Amino acid sequence: AYNLPTEFIGKKVIHLDTVGSTNDYAKEIGNKVSGGTLIISEQQTKGKGRLGRVWKSKSGDGIWMSLIIKPKIEPYKAPFLTLVAGASVVKALSNLGVEASIKWPNDIIVHNKKICGILTELSAEMERVNYVVIGIGINIKTIDFPDEIKEKATSLYKEGYKLSRVDIVRQFCIEFEKLYKGYILDGNKQDTLELCRKYSAIIGKQVYVIKNNKRELVKCIDINENGNLIVKEKNGEIQEIMSGEVSIRGV
Ligand code: BTN
Repeated sequence: AYNLPTEFIGKKVIHLDTVGSTNDYAKEIGNKVSGGTLIISEQQTKGKGRLGRVWKSKSGDGIWMSLIIKPKIEPYKAPFLTLVAGASVVKALSNLGVEASIKWPNDIIVHNKKICGILTELSAEMERVNYVVIGIGINIKTIDFPDEIKEKATSLYKEGYKLSRVDIVRQFCIEFEKLYKGYILDGNKQDTLELCRKYSAIIGKQVYVIKNNKRELVKCIDINENGNLIVKEKNGEIQEIMSGEVSIRGV
C-alpha cells in the first residue's frame, strides 16, 4: 500500500487496528522479523512517551508507528539513531511543505508546539545490539489535547496542514533509509547532524535543561559529533549534555 522505493526500510509493514503500544509489540517480535520492519497501528491503548509519560493515540488522530532496525553497532551508538529519526521526520515534512523543527533530542515542533515525539528502545546483549525500536508518534488530526499539554501540543491539521498519512510514512521511510545507511554503512554522521543543526528549534536560543528535577538556564550552542548538545552555562562554562534523562523547556 505504501509502494516504497526503499531497499529495506518499510519493505514489510505490519498494520494493526489496535495495540497497547507499537513499541511493546515491536519488542515482542523484534527477534523474529527482519530489519526495516515497520509496525503501524490505527490506535494505541497504552501509548508510551518518554520518561514514563502517556502518549494519547486515538484512532484516526495520527501516525503511531515503530520501526525495527538491526544495525551492527555497539549499544552506545544507538542514541544517535534518535537523531537520525528526528532528522528524517523533519526532512519528510519539509518535502511535503511543512516547516518543522527539531527540539533536540526527540521532539518535532511546528509553530512552537510539539507535533511529534520519538521514543527509541534498545535490545542488547553482551555489548551487542539485537535490534533497535524507533517509536514515532505524529499528531495529524488531533484537535483536543488533555489540559496538561494543551499549551504545548498541536497537530498538523491544527496548524493548517492537510497531509495524508501514507505520504508522510513514505517520505519518512525514504529519508530514514538514506541517513541510516550513511551512518551504519559509511559512518557518516554529517548528513544527520547537518539536518539537526539546520532545522534546530533550540540552537542559538536560551532554554531550561531539566535533570533530576533541577532546572538550569543555558544557551544552546551546537550539537556535536556524538549527537550531544553543547550548551553555555550562566557562569560561561561550556557543557556537553547527553540525551538520556534530560528534558528541554523553552524560556
Ligand atoms: C515522547 O515524546 O515522549 C515520545 C512519544 C513516542 C510516541 C510513539 S507513538 C508510537 C510508539 N509507540 C509508543 O508507545 N510510543 C511511540
